[in-house]
Amino acid sequence: MKSKIVLLGPPGSGKGTQGEKLSAELGYTRLSTGDMLREAVRKSTPLGLKAKEYMDSGRLVPNDLIIGLMKEKIAQVDGGVIFDGFPRTVEQADALAKEIDVDLAINLDVDDEELMVRLTERRTCPECNCVFHLVYNPPKKAGICDKCGCELYHRDDDTEATVRNRLKVYRENTFPLIEYYEKLGKLVTIMGKGEIDEIFAQVEKAVR
Ligand code: AP5
Repeated sequence: MKSKIVLLGPPGSGKGTQGEKLSAELGYTRLSTGDMLREAVRKSTPLGLKAKEYMDSGRLVPNDLIIGLMKEKIAQVDGGVIFDGFPRTVEQADALAKEIDVDLAINLDVDDEELMVRLTERRTCPECNCVFHLVYNPPKKAGICDKCGCELYHRDDDTEATVRNRLKVYRENTFPLIEYYEKLGKLVTIMGKGEIDEIFAQVEKAVR
């Protein structure tokens, strides 16, 4: 199996959903910068206090903060790892290449209209970071996480206006990484629309 995997794709394309399945079913460690930053914001750590205004408006947190955070995490990981939400800029990708050899970048391709519906109706668990969707992937009990029983919440950046900005930021800063990994011969693009399990079957095939 491929060991070091980057998940690329716009906000809402299913990086968290597929990354979580790779972790649960194939044993990868999932490193999600979004989850780490939200935890830092909740705990009001120095990083969280700096990151909050960027996240709430849908802008990227500055590269130096993110690269420092990820270097620490990478040093602690043993075995297969999934990078979810990192890298997001060419500078971050270059920094990652100095730390490890990426084996595969999976690009989840989903159109903007679908992304908007997914994000504005997403519900997230603050404790275990599981994600649900009110229509596509509802929790068994309304408002409650299936996995840990905590109350689900609507992320501050999942409003229509902020999602629009996140999509713009994605196109300007992160989209170029598709070509970056394609040039390295490491890119696989998977259509991210359809049943979650059917998409996972393709993701699983790509990592084996
Ligand atoms: P982050 O948390 O990484 O957000 P994102 O990239 O915008 O991605 P999302 O978490 O919104 O979506 P996803 O692709 O994981 O989709 P999901 O699986 O949840 O980052 C948040 C912020 O932190 C950034 O804006 C930035 O400020 C900062 N940040 C993070 N990393 C950074 C970095 N490296 N550098 C700088 N700043 C950084 O799915 C979405 C919804 O769709 C869910 O409801 C799910 O149930 C549903 N769904 C999933 N798959 C399907 C399907 N196949 N069909 C129908 N519904 C589906």
